[in-house]
Amino acid sequence: MITYVDASSRARRTSGVIPIHGEEGFAGMRKASALTAQALDILTEFVEPGVPTAKLDQIAHEFARDHGAVPATIFYKGYRHALCTSINHVVCHGIPDERPLREGDIVNIDLTLVVDGWHGDSSRMYPVGEISRKAERLIEVTYQSLDAGIAAAKPGATTGDIGAAIQAVAEGERMSVVRDFVGHGLGRLFHDEPNILHFGTAGTGVPLKPGMIFTIEPMINLGRPHVKILSDGWTAVTRDRTLSSQCEHSIGITETGCEIFTTSPASLFNPLAARAAA
Ligand code: MF3
Ligand code: CO
Ligand code: CO
Repeated sequence: MITYVDASSRARRTSGVIPIHGEEGFAGMRKASALTAQALDILTEFVEPGVPTAKLDQIAHEFARDHGAVPATIFYKGYRHALCTSINHVVCHGIPDERPLREGDIVNIDLTLVVDGWHGDSSRMYPVGEISRKAERLIEVTYQSLDAGIAAAKPGATTGDIGAAIQAVAEGERMSVVRDFVGHGLGRLFHDEPNILHFGTAGTGVPLKPGMIFTIEPMINLGRPHVKILSDGWTAVTRDRTLSSQCEHSIGITETGCEIFTTSPASLFNPLAARAAA
């Protein structure tokens, strides 16, 4: 996701216009997104106590190389890794490193693979061993909020309908929605129009039209919504150090609703739910 400040700057934009993609774009997004989802599937079994996030980054990077894809984040604004790995109170943009994961951690892994110039962007929450009941609850609500956002994503609705649906789920469970980062259009660009706020008022914002392609990637906190950026310039954490959780799909608006591009081939999009079902 991008910061609200970046999202508001015109300089980033090619035209200020929301692209409407045709069949070529949808086909490109399907291919890139399927590979991203497959990589996130493969990572599931490696997320265990004792494993450093740098190892996960290496696996993702090798997977990309072996499948003719490039991780979009390498060299993106000086970022140097294939993944973002955001643990516990890290909201997003956590940097993979040599510290081992610990039993009870919750980690978001966010990956964007570029295939034939198209960007497939997705993230999931992975539990490390047994996690606390409140961490489970946070993850459940985060996925429910994304589902609600996706259900609102259809022609005739607005971007505000998506944000309002997400916010209602999170705040209905007395959790909070992070304001500082937003979902984004994508395609041949990593971050494009429109911005997708994960909060807001139904009926406001931009009307959704078939052919729009964007991410929905709510960040939900157990405590207050406020974040700060650590001195590495990337890692965003909750100011009150409460747990934070996120999941992300890339979707395209169709004539009747939306198509989710980053669906998990192995039904592992929610690793916690998949584990419970197993
Ligand atoms: N994948 C993130 C997103 O959902 C962006 C990460 S940018 C990085 O938009 F540089 F921090 F990796
Ligand atoms: Co994104
Ligand atoms: Co992402």
